[in-house]
Amino acid sequence: PVVSYTLNVNGALQYVADGWIGDSLLTVLRDRLGLSGAKDGCGQGVCGACTVLVDGAPAAACLVSAATLGMREVTTVEGLVGPGPAAIRQGLIEQGAVQCGYCIPGVVVSAHALLARIPRPDEATVRRALAGHPCRCVGPNRMVAGVCAAAA
Ligand code: FES
Repeated sequence: PVVSYTLNVNGALQYVADGWIGDSLLTVLRDRLGLSGAKDGCGQGVCGACTVLVDGAPAAACLVSAATLGMREVTTVEGLVGPGPAAIRQGLIEQGAVQCGYCIPGVVVSAHALLARIPRPDEATVRRALAGHPCRCVGPNRMVAGVCAAAA
């Protein structure tokens, strides 16, 4: 069935007219709202490339049904605010973690959520927080180092 509904994305209400009931949040963000920061990787909730925040917690947008979200707060990488996201990006760049870059938006979102909760996490905590973001270019160590640098 076709449904129309409103989403709360990056602090603004977005009306989605005539959407397909089965559309994932990832599909709606990218194809209807023009927010292409969340990437479409596996489509199965395992690669982390599509990570967004739902009510502040990381979630795989490819597994979330957009039409059922109601007014829950969705934050994409484009909507992250404060000095944190820039510091995380800088840390990742300086530690050589950015190669193809496909996983980076998801990593930034998860790292931002982590640092919002725990501003000075130890390395093991960072590693756990990034466990859902496998990177085939550089592996996990540079990712973890980049986020640790951002938190230092
Ligand atoms: Fe959603 Fe891979 S595209 S986790």
